[in-house]
Amino acid sequence: MVDDPVVLNDWHPVARSEDVPEGSLLPVRLLEEELVLWRTGGQVYACQDVCAHRGTRLSCGAVDGATLVCPYHGWKYNSEGQCVHIPAHPEQTIPKRAQVQTYRVEERYNLIWVAIGEPTHDIPPFPEWDDPTYRKLLCGPYGAFELCGLRAIENFLDVAHFPFIHEGILGDAAYPEIEDYGTTIEPDGVLSKGVSVYQPNPYGTGQGGVVAYTYRALRPFTAYLAKESEGTRFSILFCVTPHAALSSTLWMWMALNYDHETPADELIAWQEKILNQDIPIIQAQRPALLPLGGQTDLLLNSDRTLIAYRKWLQEMGLRFGTVSGSRSHQ
Ligand code: FES
Ligand SMILES: [Fe+2]
Repeated sequence: MVDDPVVLNDWHPVARSEDVPEGSLLPVRLLEEELVLWRTGGQVYACQDVCAHRGTRLSCGAVDGATLVCPYHGWKYNSEGQCVHIPAHPEQTIPKRAQVQTYRVEERYNLIWVAIGEPTHDIPPFPEWDDPTYRKLLCGPYGAFELCGLRAIENFLDVAHFPFIHEGILGDAAYPEIEDYGTTIEPDGVLSKGVSVYQPNPYGTGQGGVVAYTYRALRPFTAYLAKESEGTRFSILFCVTPHAALSSTLWMWMALNYDHETPADELIAWQEKILNQDIPIIQAQRPALLPLGGQTDLLLNSDRTLIAYRKWLQEMGLRFGTVSGSRSHQ
């Protein structure tokens, strides 16, 4: 059982909107909780995936009108998690305890977001979403991978690995140097600007050049990047579903205001290729959880987004997914 309020009181994406069409249900795992999502009347609901009667998984059941029906003895639950019908005792008053825990659900960016507790922040911003000049492509879900989601966010914020892990795509081993850049911890997260790296073909023109990025850590499990270019703009909202401290699904919303011609499949395959280069290296990191507060690794100026990210996480008191919080979260 996760007991870290920082992650419990936060929104996490768990599925695409189209994964739960009207009248259907979907089991998901979030922060070690088994949940079932279900949709009725156009709304998605989430509740614990355990029937109050004899503990069977409600996700083995079905949606019937405005109720979720357990497959075992047919108890019906409403969207508030209250049992409203017990077929074996149709006349009996339904006991108060005949209910299941429900959770907050929001749909945004075509994703279904769930909070186990009371969310302290809104769902992270993605300004390109409402801007029709951007083409938006969802990459993912990828996983679930056996890796720490905080490590995946750190990898996303780390440009110094481009020339090595993504040689020929995002970097060039002949240009590994990272110039100094500015990082600040803002009220809404970590912000790095002017993070520059040489790329062999940054805009698909066949021409190499230095590209500057803006990076943001918006929430512990959500980050964002934007290329700092004039005219052509490219950005990514990167989100992690933390199923458990070492089990993560990854999502990327890619937004670009150019190239409306290349088929979506091709652009998504390109992101997948990059991600597939990242996954084994994240999984190979030790400790597998994020070291917070302990001096187990050596971060330098080129890692200052990561330094700020860790400081920010420490300031908010995050324990889940970290070495310091590992005893109760593995
Ligand atoms: S276990 Fe769900 S109705 Fe009996
Ligand atoms: Fe990478």
